[in-house]
Amino acid sequence: MTLHIAVLPGDGIGPEIMKQALDVTKAVCEKFGHQLEFEEALVGACAIDAVGDPYPPETHELCMQSDAVLFGAIGDPKYDNDPNAKVRPEQGLLRMRKQLGLYGNIRPVVTFPSLIHKSPLRAELVEGADFICIRELTGGMYFGRPQGRSEDGNTAYDTCIYTREEIERILHLAYKFAGQRRKKLTVVDKANVIATSRLWRQIAQEIAPQYPDIETDFLFVDNAAMRIIQWPKSFDVLVTENLFGDILTDEASVITGSLGLLPSASIGLHTSLFEPIHGSYPQAAGKDIANPVAMILSAALMFELGFNLMREGALIREAVNASMEAGIVTEDIAEGGKAYKTSEVGKWIVDYIRK
Ligand code: IPM
Ligand code: MG
Repeated sequence: MTLHIAVLPGDGIGPEIMKQALDVTKAVCEKFGHQLEFEEALVGACAIDAVGDPYPPETHELCMQSDAVLFGAIGDPKYDNDPNAKVRPEQGLLRMRKQLGLYGNIRPVVTFPSLIHKSPLRAELVEGADFICIRELTGGMYFGRPQGRSEDGNTAYDTCIYTREEIERILHLAYKFAGQRRKKLTVVDKANVIATSRLWRQIAQEIAPQYPDIETDFLFVDNAAMRIIQWPKSFDVLVTENLFGDILTDEASVITGSLGLLPSASIGLHTSLFEPIHGSYPQAAGKDIANPVAMILSAALMFELGFNLMREGALIREAVNASMEAGIVTEDIAEGGKAYKTSEVGKWIVDYIRK
């Protein structure tokens, strides 16, 4: 088949990890006889620098016309420390999510057998942990209006809004994933305090009977934060609102040993997008030291969830696992052993796929 892909490397380490994921994608396409057509576009701080807009209309057009979007990372410290900046790179990411209707962010958390000892948690706690966080991605406090500051600058406010429709569609998506797995769905909210969470819980209780073969349980987000660390194996599919999902997935990534290992898929109304869960890691930009695995595994998710090409995705996973077993890893997980460069890890994985 022909794969039309929009490639958005973004900021910081984005371009260097994207190069590895693209090389892997090309190798897989060659191996399985697919045509790959890709086009690059600007997003984030680099887009502000070039055209003054973090998500230019041309980038949106390209995304809309493509079969899938591969996205690297967004963010630049020169904006982080300037609370008065009028345009921010992150606005580009948020607009991209909103305009593409990407309401469901799928973040799988799986441990790699060869890295179990690198997790800060005890091996017996994390061994075999395998769950998916489904984060609502286009609602909640990230998008709620009004948002801003009082005129004297001494008061700031955000608004958290969720509609029934937004909650229902993400819950149905979560049930779909749970149905294909171990049939357990954990709905995470703060229904003891927050009104939007109470609506989430009410709607989840209404929907649950439609999925009688799936066990639904509820956790408050503070308790969930604790359980993810204390007993990660108790989760199968976890679904939650935008901000809680942002926080819990960074926490969950620790289980695997590095934030640099977790890919994600964002799906919804238009073209699906595949991106690592980590940020732009500006301190490492241009140094060829960042871990490319989350980006490469995002390409695997693209084959699997975006194109339903399961063997292609499986081969990428096999190659990534083999690279870890062979100790071909970047410094974040090398721990005493030799640390390889971003490009060396990528090349090893490409060579494995070509074999
Ligand atoms: C993520 C990131 C983004 C978010 C930032 C970069 C805006 O942390 O994808 O998790 O908060 O959603
Ligand atoms: Mg985040």
